[in-house]
Amino acid sequence: MVKKEIIPIDTLLLNKACEIILKNYGLDFSGDKSKDLISALINSSKESGSKNHEHFTKLLIDNNLSEDELDILLKYLTVGETYFFRDEKLFSALQSKTAKDFFQKKSYINIWSAGCASGEEPYSIAILIDKLYGNNSDTKFNIFASDINKHSIEKAKKGLYRDWSFRSTPQWVTADYFSERKNGFYEISDSIKNKVEFALLNLSKIEEIKNNSVRYDVIICRNVLIYFSKPVAKNLLDTFYQKLNNEGIYITTASESINVNKNLFSKFIEGNNSIFIKKKFPLETSNKIAPPSIKSKKTESPVKKNISVKLESKKTVIKEELNLSQLYKKALTEYGKNNFADSLILFDNVEREINNGKANLEDAAELYFYLVINNIKLGNHAKALKLNETYLVKYNLDYRLHYLHGILLQEEGEFNKAEEALNKSIYLNNKFPLSFFKLANLQLSAGKNSYKRNFEKSVKLLLDLQNDEIIKYSDGITAGNLIKQITLHLD
Ligand SMILES: C[S@@+](CC[C@H](N)C(=O)[O-])C[C@H]1O[C@@H](n2cnc3c(N)ncnc32)[C@H](O)[C@@H]1O
Repeated sequence: MVKKEIIPIDTLLLNKACEIILKNYGLDFSGDKSKDLISALINSSKESGSKNHEHFTKLLIDNNLSEDELDILLKYLTVGETYFFRDEKLFSALQSKTAKDFFQKKSYINIWSAGCASGEEPYSIAILIDKLYGNNSDTKFNIFASDINKHSIEKAKKGLYRDWSFRSTPQWVTADYFSERKNGFYEISDSIKNKVEFALLNLSKIEEIKNNSVRYDVIICRNVLIYFSKPVAKNLLDTFYQKLNNEGIYITTASESINVNKNLFSKFIEGNNSIFIKKKFPLETSNKIAPPSIKSKKTESPVKKNISVKLESKKTVIKEELNLSQLYKKALTEYGKNNFADSLILFDNVEREINNGKANLEDAAELYFYLVINNIKLGNHAKALKLNETYLVKYNLDYRLHYLHGILLQEEGEFNKAEEALNKSIYLNNKFPLSFFKLANLQLSAGKNSYKRNFEKSVKLLLDLQNDEIIKYSDGITAGNLIKQITLHLD
C-alpha cells in the first residue's frame, strides 16, 4: 500500500484516504503516488479553510466533507492537462479516407469524450468535423463530453482559453474558430460551442454508466485511465466496449492502448496505435426475434402493398421496395445490429401504415416499444419519454412499456417512480429477465439491499434460456453474457 517514508500525515489515515479515493473515484494513489495524495489533502484543507490536513482527511474518511470541499479535493486530485488538437498523429488519422468513410457511412454519429478536462478535446473533434464536413454532410453529429472536475466543466462551458491551450495547435484553428477577447483570452465560436454538451460524470460509477442505455459510435478517452487502478480501468474499458455500437471506434493514446483487449477490438487504421474498432460478435449480430403477425384490415392476409423506404445509414442503398411484414422484419434486424437510426425510420414507416388504417398489428405495443427504445438509443430522451407516456395511456397493461418507463425515469433521476414502473412491469410479466435486471441495477446504485434478490430472479429466468440465446427485447445481449455481468455483483 502507501509508502511509509512520507511524514506529514499519519500512515493509517493516509491508507484509509487512499482506499476511499479509490472506491469513490477509481483513482490510484498507492505506492509512490501517495505524495500526490498528501499534497492534494494539504492544498484542499488550506483552500477550504479546514483546521489542518489531518482534520480534513478525517472528514473525508467519515464521509463528512461538504460537496464544495469534495469539489476542491477533486480539483487537486485530478490532472487536467490538455490542449487543442493534442496529438497530431491522431488528428491526421481522423482525416484519412478510412475515417471519412466511417463518418459518412452513417446518418447519425454519437460521440462521447470521457474525461474531457476543460473541453479542448471535444471542441477539437467538433472543429475537425466542421472543417471536414461543414454543412455539406447528411451525417448528423452529436458530441457529449464529461469530466468529474466541476471547475473544468465550468471552464469548458464558457469556452474561454489562453495561449497555453493552443501550445501545439495548427494556426487555422485559432484563425477560423476563435475570437480574441480581453486579458489574453480567446473565445470559441458559438457554432462550435453549441455542438458540444458538457456534463459532470464520475467514470468510476460504472453501474450508472452501464444503466444509461445510450450507445455511441465513437468513444474518446485519452490520458484518463492511467490515473485509475488496474481493475477499474479494465472494468471501464469493458463498459466502453458495451456502450459502443457495432463497429464503433474507441480512441485512446498509444501508451494506454496496451489495455485494449485485442479480442474485442482491432486496429482502425493499420500502423495507428490509438484508434480501435469494435469487432462484431457473430452471436450478437444474428437476430432471432420473430416479427409479430401483420394483417391487412380487409382481407386478413399479409399486406401486399409495397412501401419504399430510404435508409439513411447505407447511402448506397437508396430505396428498397418492401411489404409491411418485410418492413417490420427489417426494422427488427437493424435493431438487432444496433443500427438504431435505420431501425427507427423503418418502424416509423410501419407506424404510418398502421395509422393510415392500412393494416393491423396483432401486437401493436411491441411496435411502440421499438419506437421508444430506438429513440432512447439515439439519445432522444425527452422524445422517448413523451412517446412512451402517450403509448402507456393506451397500453397500460403492457410490461414492455412500463419497463421502458422505468429506464427513462431512472435517467431523469426519479428513483422512486422508476422503481415503481419496473415493479409494475414485473407484476404484469414476471418472466421477463430484463425488468428484474434493471430493477436490481437501480437498487444497487441506490444502495438498497434488495438488488441481490432481483439479480437472482433475473439469473433464474436467464438459466431457462440457451447460453448463446439473445434475450428478447435486448439489443443483442446473450443470456450467458448477462449472467456473467450479474454474477460480478453476486460474488
Ligand atoms: C489529463 S486529463 C485528459 C484530458 C483529455 N482527455 C486529453 O487527453 O487531453 C484527465 C482528466 O480525467 C479526469 N478524471 C479523473 N478521474 C475521473 C473520474 N473518476 N471520472 C471522470 N473523469 C475523471 C480529470 O478530471 C481530468 O480532467
